Amino acid sequence: MADLDPVAALILAEAGDLGGTVLVVDDRLGTLSRAALDAGATVLAACDDVRDEVELPEGVTIVDLTADPDLSAVDTVLWRLPKAVAAVEDVAEQLALLCRADVQVFGGARVKHLVLAMNDALRASFGEVSASRGVAKSRVLRASQPYARSRTWPRLTRLPELELTVAGHGGVFAQGRLDAGTRLLLRSLRHERPVSGRALDLGCGSGLIAATLASLGWDVVATDVSSAAMASTRRTAAVNQLDLAAIRADGIPDHLDELDLVACNPPFHVHAAKDSAPTFELIEAAGRALRHGGELWLVYNAHLPYLSAAFDHVGPTRVVVRDRSYVVTCSTRS
Ligand SMILES: C[S@@+](CC[C@H](N)C(=O)[O-])C[C@H]1O[C@@H](n2cnc3c(N)ncnc32)[C@H](O)[C@@H]1O
Repeated sequence: MADLDPVAALILAEAGDLGGTVLVVDDRLGTLSRAALDAGATVLAACDDVRDEVELPEGVTIVDLTADPDLSAVDTVLWRLPKAVAAVEDVAEQLALLCRADVQVFGGARVKHLVLAMNDALRASFGEVSASRGVAKSRVLRASQPYARSRTWPRLTRLPELELTVAGHGGVFAQGRLDAGTRLLLRSLRHERPVSGRALDLGCGSGLIAATLASLGWDVVATDVSSAAMASTRRTAAVNQLDLAAIRADGIPDHLDELDLVACNPPFHVHAAKDSAPTFELIEAAGRALRHGGELWLVYNAHLPYLSAAFDHVGPTRVVVRDRSYVVTCSTRS
């Protein structure tokens, strides 16, 4: 246990002996899964982010919580709590519906990422919720006695300005809203790119860019690292009766090439930490996936350093529009 991070160590200490079947939710570097395997448990693991999934140790059975997996054998849930309260509420509801009545849930996080509303998010589906003492700036929330009766996620919100309904799981970016940067990007795209072709919504979240492009006649693929984003995007497409493909992937899968358009409101976080590195990789990947003359449309916070990367990895780049917070750029593959 010596090399465990404080959150993992506290979750395991709170959970005690791990026998039977353990479900690990949103493991990092496979730490909790490995500990549960070492304790002799049968381990199921659900990671929202595909980059966490590839770190899971051998011997673990991967499940997708958005796909209603069979969790009837699960005795204990070890969970690294997400930052968003809505994501806690969504996952807790699914655990309460799919696990047995005597399941014990142990959700841990750094104290700085916990808010009181997370207790209420758990209480919306579990009858008994309590908090551990804080240890090494970490804390565990325990939940038991599930009582949720029906699934309320993903939630549907009508967005009149797009004439679309968006479906959002609790963990997706801008759940149920149109982000201000996305709005600026979509306005520019609608105005300047009426022509259709093969388009990719890179980092699709709840799928609003993908759905807008599909409604304009583009042949659309949407990708994201997140299972919640995949389920939300597919549902967004279905409720709007739009046809598009959604693929869970880190970046752009190799088979997506010769694209006419890549549109992206890039990520600014990896888990809780701000990080621009993934966006540089996405810009490089877009450069490889576009056909000659194809375009990368990006929206980002004006202070972020993506303009020169777009020049270097895609081609000539112009600022289409900027407001007080965001800039939209269009780079043509050369
Ligand atoms: C700022 S959000 C934008 C979501 C959506 N396109 C919108 O405009 O509302 C960025 C999205 O990129 C996804 N993402 C982060 N890193 C990624 C990667 N390496 N490959 C694919 N998607 C990624 C995140 O999960 C998140 O959904």
